[in-house]
Order: sequence, then structure tokens, then C-alpha cells
Amino acid sequence: MFKKQTYQSRREKLTTQVGKGLILLLGNDDVGMNYSANVYHFRQDSSFLYFVGIDQPGLAAVIDADSGETTIFGDELTLEDIVWTGAQPSIKDKAAGIGINKTERKSELAEVLAAAQGAGRKVHFLPPYRAKNQRKIQLFLGIQPEAQKGAASKVLINAVIAQRSYKSAEEIVEMEKAVNISRAMHIAVMQAAKVGMKEAQLAGIAHGISMAAEGHPAYPIIMTVNGQVLHSHDHSNALKSGQLVLGDYGGETKTHYAGDITRTFPVDKTFTQQQREIYEIVLKAENDCIAACKPGIAYRDIHSQAAQIIGEGLKDLGLMKGDISDAVAQGATALFFPHGLGHHIGLDVHDMEDLGEDFVGYSEHIKRSELFGTGYLRLGRELEKDFVLTVEPGVYFIPELIDQWQAEGKFTDFINYDKLAPYRDFSGIRIEDNVLITENGHRVLGKAIPKTVGEIEALRQG
Ligand code: GLY
Ligand code: MN
Ligand code: MN
Repeated sequence: MFKKQTYQSRREKLTTQVGKGLILLLGNDDVGMNYSANVYHFRQDSSFLYFVGIDQPGLAAVIDADSGETTIFGDELTLEDIVWTGAQPSIKDKAAGIGINKTERKSELAEVLAAAQGAGRKVHFLPPYRAKNQRKIQLFLGIQPEAQKGAASKVLINAVIAQRSYKSAEEIVEMEKAVNISRAMHIAVMQAAKVGMKEAQLAGIAHGISMAAEGHPAYPIIMTVNGQVLHSHDHSNALKSGQLVLGDYGGETKTHYAGDITRTFPVDKTFTQQQREIYEIVLKAENDCIAACKPGIAYRDIHSQAAQIIGEGLKDLGLMKGDISDAVAQGATALFFPHGLGHHIGLDVHDMEDLGEDFVGYSEHIKRSELFGTGYLRLGRELEKDFVLTVEPGVYFIPELIDQWQAEGKFTDFINYDKLAPYRDFSGIRIEDNVLITENGHRVLGKAIPKTVGEIEALRQG
């Protein structure tokens, strides 16, 4: 947790920006895995963490935007609870620690909200993404779950984004820690991998390091010899000589800031010639796109720069042809680079995605593309100082996509389909780092993580 004044000043800014009505911030509850007492690891809602900071289930906060007063709703432990959980600091004490002096029982919340609505006051809420909080909004405010995304307060959403998008110095300290934990995870995996090991063993090493750092993985670990499956969470394959391992995973700090790092390395001690050629293209795209990051530039344009570098690299190898700028503009490079270049990162790995990707990543004059591939870009708007984002280009050979496009005769001016046969089992390569936008440029967060062909091969050779 940060100091009391951090949370106070965040709530004050929020109150000023929202102006009037009640701001309802729902914390998360425990969720049963297979029966209600056997729970998933608890993860607090990120906006609740940001403005209230209390990391425990079963809480809600109401900020009265007219008076500026905040109330925490939650039930103190009973003696019977304490038998199972041990004594814990009270909600009252925790609330006082973040500058909130008013607490109420959970059961009071419905009445407070009903009274406000009865008096014609607006209750601002964020789009709930968990069934239990959707149920609460339905009970408290009479809005059906399907209608809640649309009924959520745009004023509140924008006010939250207006603060959480800009990382403070104390947040950057935490985010550096998250990247350094992620770095330790990646280095240990790249040192341990051997022919015959299962992906699951490598995932276990990464997971263990994140837990030893008093956190958790920031998102489900991708550890796969099938890098062409963009979000593969299967860990059942044994590593074979000649394959690549794509590892996309990161640690979450004790304070819940995320790291999101990808490295791709050979199961053998060296890359094959074919792997090295594709790797160098992705590495150039990553390095050049990081170098382009600065305030004022639209991230959509840096995404296009990545596609351009990838297209030119593949043209040099004979896999693409024609005018690569046209290929990028028409979406042909998405056969090999079918995802976005990156996204905001912070308390969430895809920061604030629950609030609505277009609110977070686009603006009045930069709208999401409708092209396949570029349409998945989560961040298109102009970069600003204190944003933290990921840069994560990749090249993939997805046999199903290649076959479909070829059968449709798609982009035959740009793609040499007859040259793709030797790449059908290639899988994919992605490289990802986390970047802070500074006054005049950028800074890659954390200590350097091996990334060049030479650095990765040195690590693989011990
Ligand atoms: N880890 C998911 C992503 O890179 O967006
Ligand atoms: Mn990632
Ligand atoms: Mn990412």
C-alpha cells in the first residue's frame, strides 16, 4: 500500500471530476472453485485498489461527490471467523489508514443507494465484470446484467481513466519491481529448459518464482512450443529439438502491479538459420518501435511501423512481395502479425480493460481500425508522458489462416504462398517489454532481460 495521502488525493481528484451524485466502487468477493469454501486466489478489483487500497474481499466504498465523504461498507470478523482466519486488523482501522473515518455494515449499502436514488441523485458505477458484482448492481439499482455495460457512468469511467493512465513515481517503483520479478522468471526458464521437459515444468518454475516474490503470475502463463497459438494456455507438450519455446508471462507484485514480458528461445542451444532470420525481424521491429515511443506520437502509427518492418523483413526472405506500405495499409501483413503492438499496463496487465478498451486506448479523433489484425490493437491514441505500455511485435505462421487466405486468393499481390511450405511448423516468435513514456522519449522498465540472438544463445549454453 502507498501512504494515506496518495489515496486521499486520488479520491479528491475523482470527486472533483465526477462533480455530483454517489460514486459506488465495488470490491471483489471470494469465488469458489468447486465449492464455495474452496476459493480461487483472491484478487481485489483494480480501481478499488487504486482509490481505496484495502486488499480484502467483501467490501464496497461509496464516495459522496457532493460532500466529499467516503464510507466503507463491510462486516468485521466475528469470533467464529477469527477461529478460522486468526485475528486481523479491523476494517475500521484499515479505513483510518487510508483517511476514511466512516464504516458501515454491508447490509446498509442497499438502503443508502435506494435513498440516494429516491432523492433523485445519480449513482455512478463502473462496468462490473464479475457475476457477483453484476448481481449486486441488479439488486441495488434494478439494472439487468446485459444492460449494465451501457448504463455504467461514462463520467466515472473517464475520471478513473484520467488518473490511472498516468503512473506516478511511486507506481513506477512498483512496476519496475514487477518487471524485475518477471525477468527472474524468464531467465530461470531459459536456463532450465531441456529437450524432453514438459512445458508444464517450465510454467511451474515461472509460477514458483512469482509466488516466492510474494505475488502471483499477473495473468495465465503462456509457455508453449506452439507460439502461433496466440494465447495458448496448454502446457502438455514435451520440448523437442528444433522447436522454439514462446514464453509470455510476468509477475504481479505484492501491491498488484503487473509485468508482461515475452521471450522466445530455441529448445536447442542455438537458433536454426530459419529461426534466426525470423527472430532478427521481430527484434528489429521491437527495438525500432520502442525507440519511436515518445509523447505525441499515435501508438496506431507505431503499430503500423512494426507491420512495415515485419513486411519488409519477410519480403527480403521472399515470403512477401510488392509495395509493403500498401500491404500494411490493406492489412496483408496481418497474416504474419495478426495482433496489436501493445496496451497500457499497470494494476491490470491490460490496464483498465474492464472500463472499455475504446475509452482507454482510443480518442475522439483516433478510432479503432476495422481491419483484421490492426482491429485487435488495444491502444491506438497518442502517447503521453507517464503512460506505461507494452511493445510486443511478433511473427507467426498459422497454418489454418494461411490455408484459408490462400483458398480465398487473398492478397496474392503481397504474399508468396508457394514459399510458405517450409514454415508451416515454424510456430511463432514474439518479443515483449514494458515501456514508460517520459518527457521527451521513453524508458524500458526493469533491468535488461536477454533479448538478442547472442544473449539468448549464451543463456541457453549456460
Ligand atoms: N500477456 C498478454 C499480452 O501480452 O497481451
Ligand atoms: Mn504478454
Ligand atoms: Mn502484453
